Amino acid sequence: MYSEKAQKELLQLTEKWKSEAETVNNPEKAINELSAILRYHDWRYYVLADPKISDFEYDQLFKKLQKLEAEHPELLSNDSPTQRVAQGLTDSFETVAHSVPMLSLDNSYNEEDLLEFDRRVRSLSGKENIQYVAEPKFDGSGIALLYENDKLVRAATRGNGVMGEEITNNARVIKSVPLRAEFSKYGIYKAELRGEVVIAHDVFEKINEKREAEGLSTFQNSRNTAAGGLRMKDPSEVAKRGMEAFVYQVGYAVNKDGNNLLGNQLREHDANIQMLYDLGFKTPGIEKTLGNIKSAIDFCKDWEEKRDAYTYEIDGMVVKVNDLQIQDEIGSTAHHPRWAIAYKFKAKQAKSRLVNVEFQVGRTGAITPVAKIEPVRLAGVTISSISLHNEDFIKEKDIRMSDLLLVERAGDVIPYVVGVVESERKEERELVQFPEQCPSCGSKPVRLEGEAAWRCVNAECPAQTEEKLIHFVSKAAMDIDGLGKDIVKRFIREGLISAIHDIYNLDYDHILALEGWKEKSVENLKNGIENSKQNPTWRLIVALGIRHVGSATAKTLAKQVKSILELQEFEIETLSELQDVGPIVAESIYDFFHNEANIQLIKQLAAAGVSIENTEQDEAKSDVLEGKSFLFTGSLSKFTRDEAKELVEKNGGKTISSVSKKLDYLVVGENAGSKKTKAEQLGTVEIISEADFLNLINADA
Ligand code: IVH
Repeated sequence: MYSEKAQKELLQLTEKWKSEAETVNNPEKAINELSAILRYHDWRYYVLADPKISDFEYDQLFKKLQKLEAEHPELLSNDSPTQRVAQGLTDSFETVAHSVPMLSLDNSYNEEDLLEFDRRVRSLSGKENIQYVAEPKFDGSGIALLYENDKLVRAATRGNGVMGEEITNNARVIKSVPLRAEFSKYGIYKAELRGEVVIAHDVFEKINEKREAEGLSTFQNSRNTAAGGLRMKDPSEVAKRGMEAFVYQVGYAVNKDGNNLLGNQLREHDANIQMLYDLGFKTPGIEKTLGNIKSAIDFCKDWEEKRDAYTYEIDGMVVKVNDLQIQDEIGSTAHHPRWAIAYKFKAKQAKSRLVNVEFQVGRTGAITPVAKIEPVRLAGVTISSISLHNEDFIKEKDIRMSDLLLVERAGDVIPYVVGVVESERKEERELVQFPEQCPSCGSKPVRLEGEAAWRCVNAECPAQTEEKLIHFVSKAAMDIDGLGKDIVKRFIREGLISAIHDIYNLDYDHILALEGWKEKSVENLKNGIENSKQNPTWRLIVALGIRHVGSATAKTLAKQVKSILELQEFEIETLSELQDVGPIVAESIYDFFHNEANIQLIKQLAAAGVSIENTEQDEAKSDVLEGKSFLFTGSLSKFTRDEAKELVEKNGGKTISSVSKKLDYLVVGENAGSKKTKAEQLGTVEIISEADFLNLINADA
């Protein structure tokens, strides 16, 4: 990026500006010089992590530039280093289409999988030997950066891969994202880069320490913190999360005439990464070009050993075909490129001592044993608490008090007790005792036949009420802005709420009088609550907390009725016939709507102004499949043919009835026959699985 000579000059300029007097004769020249210096020091600090000046010196230079720009607003350019400072709030993020879809990666877990991948690549490309690049698989949040005419013009989240959310203002405060980069030097007019926003281990820990000191809840892991950070409404808050952006892929690159450069002028992945580095981007740094799959495998395994020593959380390595022409030749499925594969590291394990078992009462009354263990670091987070699920789990694993537990945590969030280190259990140890009273209300728990959980069946149990309230306002349910878990707990303590309908009859004067509340925050809360009254019906159904009813079932139910109360008239048989609803779910729904207290609650909510009428019969539409044609063949297991058609249409695509050049996607179920063969012969049709299809429209399987 900067030659030695260029760096020397910039450092000399830095010295000059450190001592430069306040009066400036040529403001344009001054602004250019200061911008160049600051850009260089940003790069030293944020990309190389090797600064050449102190923070204080940097701030002084920064202020000089800010002052000059304030005096000469006509000279202010929006890619000036000062323009990373966040201004204003974002109300809502716009959805934008990526230049080319951001696909997922196929996964592999062992050497054999990688060898198989290599065999496939060789057979598809007809090449004997393939050169690969292996690089870290960052466990962060995907981002797409669009540059046009050497300037950052847009940043977007990965979203569903086809469409993401436009978060340019938030990306601008991430200092390792260059606001300008000289793509023109390479003949590139427009480029979309793919990368990952991450938070370094030590930075993440500091953020959590700070939050703890401020009495805030700590973040689970750096991935969610980064993902949440990208979507924050206030860019100045984004800046506080210490996020960094790595780029690992040129997804799209064209010249001034709109000609594609990938595979033409830009021929190799490793050269592209080098180019990005030279342009001032943060690149993985530990990527390596390898002559064959064997050495790629060794490299991956090597990093599996050292992963903890790496500054950032990685959950595997990615192996990519280096030659872009081969990449292009072997192409992609709708879900992932055939020229790349993720090698996932094995779940991390740690040992820790069981200190105590606590019993938590959930919203349905289930009493869950929770192991309190000596804090232990595992895959990027400190774990001190871990679910033991139920009595049977404890018996099966033979977990006793003070045992040494083997704990595992895969790439995902929830840690898991694998078992007990028995060799270490030298003396007799006490069994884990299940409580004979509900830890919250003291009533006697029951364990129903066929159920794993002991349950508190007291409808008035305070712990259940609290959990019900928390669920009601949560993101998955009513999604009430400004009313999170901690606030719900506080309001309960303050006696402001004790039942769900109280949320809609809050005493706002009382809240205003509470410590930490101001006019503005009360106003926000009020708006959040008011807005939730008009939520789509399915949200209210989820919020009611009917056992086994999540958003998919709630959406199905909402479509059946004009008012939620009509669900009282549904028989178990009718309910069982609905999509996603089996006999157990049907019974649970039936029971819920035949319990007077629940009907009362719905009526109370309606009386408080919450809409229980289904106004939007029409489900939200999307256009992710715009212009694409589909055909389904074979026996489908995830949806019926009619449902498939409906899904395609709802997402802006169309279905056609035969395989031809006009067909974009053939979705194949079990035992697909001649249609599949024909599509393979044609070679122009993407053949995908049902799961791939759901992925395309970002629906859950
Ligand atoms: S390449 C078209 N490279 O993993 C190629 N992805 O599971 C697809 N990821 O959505 C992406 N590190 O967010 C690629 N070095 C890396 C990566 C990487 C992390 C993420 C990315 C992607 C997801 C796929």
